[in-house]
Amino acid sequence: MLIACWSVKGGSGTTVVAASLAVILARSMPGGALAVDLAGDLPAAFGVPEPTGPGVTDWASVPDAGADSLCRLEAEVRPGLRLITTGTGRLDADGADRLSTALAGDRHVVVDCGSGGDRCAVALAASAALSLLVLRPCYLALRRALAAPIRPSGVILVSEPGRSLGRHDIEDVLGVPVRADVAWDPAVARAVDAGLLAARVPRTLERALRRAA
Ligand SMILES: Nc1ncnc2c1ncn2[C@@H]1O[C@H](COP(=O)(O)OP(=O)(O)O)[C@@H](O)[C@H]1O
Ligand SMILES: [Mg+2]
Repeated sequence: MLIACWSVKGGSGTTVVAASLAVILARSMPGGALAVDLAGDLPAAFGVPEPTGPGVTDWASVPDAGADSLCRLEAEVRPGLRLITTGTGRLDADGADRLSTALAGDRHVVVDCGSGGDRCAVALAASAALSLLVLRPCYLALRRALAAPIRPSGVILVSEPGRSLGRHDIEDVLGVPVRADVAWDPAVARAVDAGLLAARVPRTLERALRRAA
């Protein structure tokens, strides 16, 4: 099952949500989970060294590269959790298409598609079993989400105190369910800053995301 996390604005919490979902699934699914990084921040979020070798975009740049060579790019983050890092290639439409085929299978795969509005990463999200838009309850972000080329299958709302937009406003405007309401929590920010997400997902995040996964 392919789960794509994406957003329409940087700083929304996409990497945090993708990393945490991957950790939760790695622990709870018999086959573990694979995290695929199209945005570049997952190694830091997991607290593992920055990669030196090729990554998923290098694989995607080679037209006849097969699923087995993609598997060889996986590295273990912790038992049950594997990661394919970004690399230095470019993801084009054909690469995104081949990637979504190569990642199809029994294992749970979480892709951080980033916030840059990369058309090919968005195309990958469109083909995922679960396409999760990570969104702050912000009018400007909501406008961008409405104008995005695809509709997500669900929204992960990262709520900040004092905002006037809520879950129902987002659902009314976008016409898709809010699958999780993640509270803004300083413990989450601290865990990210310390590179500790792979070791322990903060409780508020875990509780909110377990249902979404
Ligand atoms: N639920 C949360 N509570 C507190 N801080 C958060 C939360 N989610 C994300 N952050 C912080 O917000 C910042 C942006 O998160 P990030 O996942 O990098 O966003 P994106 O990938 O969308 O650019 C980071 O500093 C991160 O620690
Ligand atoms: Mg990110």
